Amino acid sequence: MVAIEVILGDITRLDVDALVNAANESLLGGGGVDGAIHRAAGPRLAKAGAALAPCPPGEAIATPGFDLDPPVRHIIHTVGPVWEGGRNGEAEVLASCYRNAIQTADEFGAETIAFPAIATGVYGFPADKAARIAVRTLRETPTEVAKIFLVAFDQETHDQLTAALTER
Ligand code: APR
Repeated sequence: MVAIEVILGDITRLDVDALVNAANESLLGGGGVDGAIHRAAGPRLAKAGAALAPCPPGEAIATPGFDLDPPVRHIIHTVGPVWEGGRNGEAEVLASCYRNAIQTADEFGAETIAFPAIATGVYGFPADKAARIAVRTLRETPTEVAKIFLVAFDQETHDQLTAALTER
């Protein structure tokens, strides 16, 4: 089974083969982790995104990492669901984000990949529910990726991801 590790920090500083972005359908950038990745990758990222957009919720689209330092070969953009109370298929869309992103990483032969807590910020997905969906989906999706980092930007998210990873 693939190794999964929870870390606390800024995803744009990680030395991995692929970095997952919690994007919006335009792929032009935004706030949150999307904004941080676009700032770190530079203006070529928005140009590349514009040429590949729109990215429907649950889908994954890859671009180069451009100016990210440490250099990252691929940014895998995925669009999470906006939380609307949980009865509108949000859990399935979020699971698709994780599944499609890791399958895209496999297409590139990525050995390491880092995920932010997709949809748990601006999109309002409850962090505890999202953490369980992330861990369950990544555990059940066959992959050649050797190591997955689940990156929390705050202690609460870190604790939710750790709890999801350790619960049976
Ligand atoms: N590194 C790692 N995680 C980060 C970083 C960072 N530098 N910056 C923010 N995060 C965390 C947030 O704290 C949150 O836990 O990423 C998680 C996802 O939150 P958002 O970035 O708000 O993403 P999301 O909820 O999926 O909303 C996406 O917000 O920024 C816009 O363009 C984006 O429209 C899209 C929407």
